[in-house]
Amino acid sequence: MRITVADVGKMKNDGERIAMVTVYDYSSALIAERAGVPLLLVGDSLGMVMLGHDTTLPVTLDDMIHHASAVMRASRQALVIADLPFLSYATIEDAVQSAQRLMQESGVQAVKLEGGACAVPQIRRLVEFGVPVMGHLGLTPQSQHQIGLRVQGRRAAEARKLLEDALALQEAGAFALVLEVVPAPLAKAVSERLDIPVIGIGAGVECDGQVQVWHDVLGLFEGRSPRHAKRFAEIGAAMEDAIRTYVNEVRSGTFPTDKQSAKMDEDELTAALT
Ligand code: KIV
Ligand code: NA
Repeated sequence: MRITVADVGKMKNDGERIAMVTVYDYSSALIAERAGVPLLLVGDSLGMVMLGHDTTLPVTLDDMIHHASAVMRASRQALVIADLPFLSYATIEDAVQSAQRLMQESGVQAVKLEGGACAVPQIRRLVEFGVPVMGHLGLTPQSQHQIGLRVQGRRAAEARKLLEDALALQEAGAFALVLEVVPAPLAKAVSERLDIPVIGIGAGVECDGQVQVWHDVLGLFEGRSPRHAKRFAEIGAAMEDAIRTYVNEVRSGTFPTDKQSAKMDEDELTAALT
């Protein structure tokens, strides 16, 4: 049985911390499912980590559908949520059309969108018509040209606005909320005041759950990780080693061996060649 949005609400009530990770393709989703991740996010961070863009802004609805569909071919247990891309939910009509395509064409169970008060009418309409919506406040990467990539909510006025937005999203019917890069004490206060689960990324341990980007968790790239990330493995280095060994074995003629090759009766070959 697949995890539902009601189950996620129950996890908060039961004090069970919620683990979410992004995933963008079939074979990775199989791994995440085997590891028992309850919530999978097809994030528009795929624009950077899968497609090589500098930001999430160039990601299209078609990109999201392409990746979310691949994830859904692997997923059986998790609640799968996909991001609505930049400006694809600027009006209620846009939000409805975008969510319709994303859900019908990929099969995900919920959508996520960024923003506070400005997103309330869209969330209200989607929820009225049966679309589970996850909110996203704090460092919202789709607004980075306006708000930058710094910590959000450090000053009282900004923190108060964030709490008001969080309550407004809950009131509009969001089933959960992502808080990205906000001070841990503020994230704790928001988590305590909201009935819906608050999933943090760079928001301290007192949120109801955590979300991380697949590549950050696995150490899938070279160079500096974001401050909030912990590399639980060095898979990128392991992949590079494996590929380098493969290339070396091809060059030296040590791969393939008899073990990887089909055999043939000597007489049959002789008959064929004469
Ligand atoms: O796109 C994404 O990966 C996200 C998470 C970081 C919350 O929105
Ligand atoms: Na995102």
